[in-house]
Amino acid sequence: MSEAVRIAETRERLAEERAALGTVALVPTMGALHEGHRSLIRLAHQYADDVVVSVFVNPLQFGPDEDFSRYPRTFDADVRACAEEGVRLVFAPSPEEMYTGNRQVTVSAGPMGDVLEGEFRPGHFDGVLTVVLKLFNLVRPQVAIFGQKDAQQLAMIRRMVADLDVPVRVVGAPTMREPDGLALSSRNRYLGPEDRRTGLYLSRALAEGRATAAQGPSAVRRAARRVLEEAAEARPPLRLDYLALVDPATFAEIGEDYAGEAVLAVAGKVGTTRLIDNMSVTFL
Ligand code: PAJ
Repeated sequence: MSEAVRIAETRERLAEERAALGTVALVPTMGALHEGHRSLIRLAHQYADDVVVSVFVNPLQFGPDEDFSRYPRTFDADVRACAEEGVRLVFAPSPEEMYTGNRQVTVSAGPMGDVLEGEFRPGHFDGVLTVVLKLFNLVRPQVAIFGQKDAQQLAMIRRMVADLDVPVRVVGAPTMREPDGLALSSRNRYLGPEDRRTGLYLSRALAEGRATAAQGPSAVRRAARRVLEEAAEARPPLRLDYLALVDPATFAEIGEDYAGEAVLAVAGKVGTTRLIDNMSVTFL
């Protein structure tokens, strides 16, 4: 018997549907679901009776010059994918439903929200944390799954849950990649074949950085930067926003004597498409 996926498009309907659910693992998404999202859903099944997926392109986390209006929206295909993955409920509210006219209180991400992604996308993490807290309050999951692909987002959500005593267990999931290394992303569909070839420099830089871990953080940064210099000369070029080697909990740059797991993170633009990626690097 195929598992029917139900859809709640309003908070009221969600409240009715919730009553029929067991323990819940929530997978928040902005839709345009790909294999990366599906891997999160599969992981979610290991943590709860029922999996709820939210599909909401959150206007609050897009800057004025960003791609909110052209962000891919593939709702029917998303619901089919959710049904295939045994999802119980898809929560897909409208922006009007989520943000009423007289809204004024939001979550502030604090200093960690101003570095790296936050430096290039001012206000982004305030928008992410605000919507994630709203989704937690609406769906009331015991567990929530987020991808390591957005490592700073995952770290910020862990920080919010700790600092605001949010009663949700946050689980991180590994990054799914194409066979050639490109991290899966809803934005990859903007890339033409040549853009895509340039986009591959991101994962290559991270992999080459990681391969020099035994020689310490400076060597890792140098090796990654060498590849990114090549990428800057490619046609079309990669326009680098940042390369950073940071502590995964604080997103502060690590020093030469750092021991343990760090995150090597990169972001840049190919044409008008912004790509981000990261890999963990362990220093012994
Ligand atoms: P979205 O970009 O749709 O991503 C939803 C979830 O999928 C995030 O946790 C993200 O890290 C994860 N994900 C994306 N690409 C992945 C990949 N290649 N492998 C594994 N997981 C991947 O991130 C957001 O939406 C939003 O900011 C959201 C948290 C929903 C708040 O609006």
